Amino acid sequence: MDNTKLELSQKLYIETYGCQMNVADSEVVASVMKDNGYIVTEDINEADIILVNTCSIRENAEQRVWGRLDVFKQIKKKKPELTVGVIGCMAERLKEKLIEEKKIVDLVVGPDAYRSLPELLETVESGQKAINVILSKEETYADISPVRLDKNGISAFISIMRGCNNMCSYCIVPYVRGGERSRNPESIIVEAEDLYKKGYKEITLLGQNVDSYNWESEDKNKTVMFAQLLEMVAKISPTLRIRFSTSHPKDMSDEVLYTMAMYSNICNHVHLPAQSGSTEVLEKMKRGYSREWYIDRINAIKKILPNCAVSTDIMTGFSGETEENHKDTLSLMSLVNYDYAFMFKYSERPKTYAARHLKDDVAEEIKSRRLSEIIELQGSLSEKSKKADLGKVFEVLVEGISKKSKDQLFGRNSQNKVVVFPKQDYKIGDYVFVEVTDCTSATLIGKAID
Ligand code: SAH
Ligand code: SF4
Ligand code: F3S
Repeated sequence: MDNTKLELSQKLYIETYGCQMNVADSEVVASVMKDNGYIVTEDINEADIILVNTCSIRENAEQRVWGRLDVFKQIKKKKPELTVGVIGCMAERLKEKLIEEKKIVDLVVGPDAYRSLPELLETVESGQKAINVILSKEETYADISPVRLDKNGISAFISIMRGCNNMCSYCIVPYVRGGERSRNPESIIVEAEDLYKKGYKEITLLGQNVDSYNWESEDKNKTVMFAQLLEMVAKISPTLRIRFSTSHPKDMSDEVLYTMAMYSNICNHVHLPAQSGSTEVLEKMKRGYSREWYIDRINAIKKILPNCAVSTDIMTGFSGETEENHKDTLSLMSLVNYDYAFMFKYSERPKTYAARHLKDDVAEEIKSRRLSEIIELQGSLSEKSKKADLGKVFEVLVEGISKKSKDQLFGRNSQNKVVVFPKQDYKIGDYVFVEVTDCTSATLIGKAID
């Protein structure tokens, strides 16, 4: 592009909320927009278009976006030609209501409609509002090469599937993301190889339930399951690290664990959301497994992959949750010894099975108290998990300069723990063996060994 063209190009600013899948989607959006002459900017003040990629998983995730729309309104006051678009899960859930509520919103686009962005922007340019929230049974954006918006050039996400078929009773995802579909494995390999050639060292394969990845060729003669896909990606190079998320306890197979054991570049970490430690609650959540089943999966991980870290998601205060049920969650956490956890209060989501059939009947103060107990327990488990690493040596992939000191680098070990150590002559993208000498609540501290 020559300079005159660059000056004429419209500038796009994307802000992303929600899960890793939204981060990956923003990169697809950037790619669609770039192909149509837009330039991505990191400076909101020079933007001609602001797109906010949104999350609906909990009420407070949506609140944050409403707050941002008020900020964009102020920017638009000074710059009336600015276009504001809401994309992603909240766009899908609220549709035209977003435009009715907030007049500054010009554009509403759901997660399966990003290819239509340029067309919709033309409509906006002609002075109308534009909306496309059609969900698709096939869209995987397989042929779109995402524009990487990450800063480090070392780790990247690749979406391997979209949507979800599970219908957990509390969850909005199937409503805003549609049914599950697996992406063509060849397109995944091409994307991973391309990243590797560009110097990326770590790839995270993404899906709401990666264990149910199941691609079938059109003539139905060929199928690829998750364990096979994992192996195909791992074979690209032993110096390319592979991670994946999220595993679902009901579908996580030993085969996947054995594949992990076979390739040292598949990281020793499984994120296995339990949600609750009580079978009774899990049944109401329609999670498809019991406490015993979950523990069996944990035992399989510990047996097949003795050095594997395990993290989880816990949701507290779901409909009907008793003190006894809550204690079951605490005891499961202590039994598993999670390395880290994401912990939430149940938030009722419109349209879900739970919203229609189950009362949100745990009082707010009880939810809060249970959540603090869960957070406190996890705090001590996380500390225990870090202390157990003192004296150990890990291979760390360097991701950047430590925020606290420019003489320190940070990276992660295979178990996904952050490790900080003196920079010396090492640089971003290096694999460095580090001996752990100390730890804080959030990081391991060590020194490089030759
Ligand atoms: N597909 C993943 C989870 C995706 S959502 C899985 O099934 O494990 C990420 C996390 O948000 C969930 O694991 C759950 O802990 C939490 N979550 C989902 N719906 C929620 C709700 N209605 N209220 C509170 N937390 C919720
Ligand atoms: Fe939601 Fe359940 Fe699907 Fe996860 S598996 S995205 S919690 S419906
Ligand atoms: Fe949120 Fe949508 Fe992800 S609801 S958690 S951004 S799939």
